[in-house]
Amino acid sequence: MARLLAKRSSGLSGHLRVPSDKSISHRSLLLGSIAEGVTRIDSLLTAEDVLHTAQALRALGVEIETRGGQFLVRGTRLSAPHRQLDLGNAGTGVRLLMGLVAGQQVACTLTGDPSLRRRPMGRVLDPLRLMGLEAEDHDGRLPVTLRPAPLQAIRYKLPMASAQVKSAVLLAGLGADGPVTVVENVPTRDHTERMLTAFGAELSTKGEDITLIPGQRLVGQTIAVPADPSSAAFPAVAATILKGSDLRLSGVMMNPRRTGLFSILKRMGAQLAEDNSREVGGEGVADLRVTSALLRGTKVEAHEVPDMIDEVPILAVAAALAEGITRIEGLEELKVKESDRLTATAALLRAAGAPCEMGDDWLEIEGTGGKPLKGGTLIDTDHDHRMGMAALVLGLHSDEPMTIEGAEAVDTSFPGFARAMHSIGAQITAA
Ligand code: S3P
Repeated sequence: MARLLAKRSSGLSGHLRVPSDKSISHRSLLLGSIAEGVTRIDSLLTAEDVLHTAQALRALGVEIETRGGQFLVRGTRLSAPHRQLDLGNAGTGVRLLMGLVAGQQVACTLTGDPSLRRRPMGRVLDPLRLMGLEAEDHDGRLPVTLRPAPLQAIRYKLPMASAQVKSAVLLAGLGADGPVTVVENVPTRDHTERMLTAFGAELSTKGEDITLIPGQRLVGQTIAVPADPSSAAFPAVAATILKGSDLRLSGVMMNPRRTGLFSILKRMGAQLAEDNSREVGGEGVADLRVTSALLRGTKVEAHEVPDMIDEVPILAVAAALAEGITRIEGLEELKVKESDRLTATAALLRAAGAPCEMGDDWLEIEGTGGKPLKGGTLIDTDHDHRMGMAALVLGLHSDEPMTIEGAEAVDTSFPGFARAMHSIGAQITAA
């Protein structure tokens, strides 16, 4: 297993374009695979998760090739694969693909790596079964075998704030015999709705109801994938906590359902300025300038969490160096991410010397007021890319270096993380 080590660094500077957005990359491959004609994708994220989704689609008969840096997806009628579809670590890949293949009535078995096989799939299978899908699972987990069956209309109230469940139901709805409505009382990322509309599908949104009208025809598109705000979060926090930083992060997607961390950091006193705001592929994009700042603790309410669900570990690192207490509520979904991130975040902070209390769905962190943490710990990523990157950022402002074991997990979303961080002055190296 690979190790990476992060040690005390001075301010970060220069420019960085972090890798492309993972959510949009998955969706552009998935929609392109069943759309008429060719979908051309510029700047697709070529990280492990997305490559697994591309491989699964190829096994379902989709032609995906690269030409001059562009990915070309030739839409087709999906066909049953000859082998199990292994989605690796990709939760978005497997859950959205289940919805898509259910709607296209294709028989297949889906599985994943040890982390993905631990994660709940019942949340997607429940609504799909209500629509008529026949499926076998292993105690609500992978491997899952889907059998083709005609799907019916549904009105489904999401039991948890989950864009993956919402998206799976809408994608299945492309093959249903009537309208499919998802009712979401806490809004989650809306990339599926935006992209379905861009591909020509008719969707209506009324209050909490999102409805896909039946009989949609998708037409291949050209998509440019912007930089991932969830990846930008790591250098943004690093530049904030390291004195003397002046960093520019270019082309970051600023969809309001994804920028919760930036808003909370600003509330804590961070110096984050947006510049050159523009639109790329139906999404707002901006360049971010981050200079260092001493943060103040804050209270993050449960309703704020969906807009920063993947950023809680790195927010916790920022909070550990802020002045005063930070309390984050509404974290039950964190337990079913790539690892149990509620427990893992508390364990990371405590191991590095930061006082942290944890409850069933909350974290309370006492910050040092800018004083470096003790650090000096080895953290196992447990197949969780974001825990690995959070531990490394923490190591940049610790007395003793932080080391991560299982560092290959970082490639799930941010290939070349160490190199990219090194290029802006962070001391992250192989160990
Ligand atoms: C994602 C949705 C979120 C997020 C994940 C990507 C997506 O998961 O944590 O990294 O692309 O739809 P949930 O919808 O399960 O909260």
